[in-house]
Amino acid sequence: VQAERGGYEHFMLKEIHEQPQAVRDTLSGRINRSGDGVLLDGVHLDPEWVRGLRSVYLVACGTAYHAGLIGGRLIERLAGIPVWNEVASEFRSRDPLIDERTLFVAISQSGETADTLSALREARRRGARILAVTNVVGSSVAREADDVVYTWAGPEIAVASTKAYTTQVVALALLALRLAEITGHTGEQERRDLLEALRFLSEALEQALELEEDVRAIGERTRTWRDAFFIGRGLDYFSALEGQLKLKEISYIHAEAYPAGELKHGTLALIEPGTPVIALMTQPDQREKMISNIEEVRARGADVLLIARQDLAGVDRHAQTTLMLPAVHPLLMPVVAAVPLQLLAYYAAVTRGADVDKPRNLAKSVTVE
Ligand code: G6P
Repeated sequence: VQAERGGYEHFMLKEIHEQPQAVRDTLSGRINRSGDGVLLDGVHLDPEWVRGLRSVYLVACGTAYHAGLIGGRLIERLAGIPVWNEVASEFRSRDPLIDERTLFVAISQSGETADTLSALREARRRGARILAVTNVVGSSVAREADDVVYTWAGPEIAVASTKAYTTQVVALALLALRLAEITGHTGEQERRDLLEALRFLSEALEQALELEEDVRAIGERTRTWRDAFFIGRGLDYFSALEGQLKLKEISYIHAEAYPAGELKHGTLALIEPGTPVIALMTQPDQREKMISNIEEVRARGADVLLIARQDLAGVDRHAQTTLMLPAVHPLLMPVVAAVPLQLLAYYAAVTRGADVDKPRNLAKSVTVE
């Protein structure tokens, strides 16, 4: 087993380190030579139909749902099509407004999650076109879809998803760009900039992995943590959601994610001296507002770990501890921010003696509704 783990202590750590290569594989062959277009060979969308789309639904469970939140924001922003995100187990309870003018995107690492499959079948009954984003070739979700974008992350063994998540976000970014080419909602130069940024993403992930020693030290401090709060705005809120899920899943520390601006409407009451708050700040346009939210929790004594894009100058004086992320295109920052969040969960679990790869009560793939 040690050999299968490639010398790493756990599959999760191995898979965290595989992300630069996994992202390279996700992108491989999918950006055209002139750097202005996306090639998705399993996707056959009729341009006329895309221009008439009423909505895009992104449906998934767990970590894949969080990837969908980011992907949805990208689709809305780049392609200009209204987006709905829904947790698969809730999808059918809402009597969704779905018809032939809907693109339904099912996101699933395994492609076998029962709730995701049921939601897909319901969307099919209502006439939607089905696109799958999955890691497993020939999986049920892949077989039942009209279009498939494989993430090519390679086998993911640890229950807590890492490289499947980051590659899902990258695959969805490619889909968003493809849709944007068709709708023309985003100009060519902006699309080119994002494609260029995608090509440097693996390097940025390698740099983010250099934070490992710092995060390991922070992980040791989690010995005394009982509750942790993750805050962010915009895309950083979605990263916060994924960060808190990772921490809960494997370290069993109670964690919650909040949109930073929403804290004062309730959760701020829980901040006491020493409460750990993980604040994400990767979006330049949210900088000032985030700083005031950090000051809000600091004033109540919170112990703030700031995870910030490194060029957001001067932000570190607002927190007790700061991790600086390499700067990439703001829309791709969630991919880079995932690395320290995964490492934090990992080292918290190791510090607390938890079974990292097989957390209690959880399964890698949930095939019951
Ligand atoms: C389980 C796993 C999660 C995963 C979720 C969805 O709960 O423990 O890590 O995010 O299922 O899995 P899927 O294979 O559909 O992405």
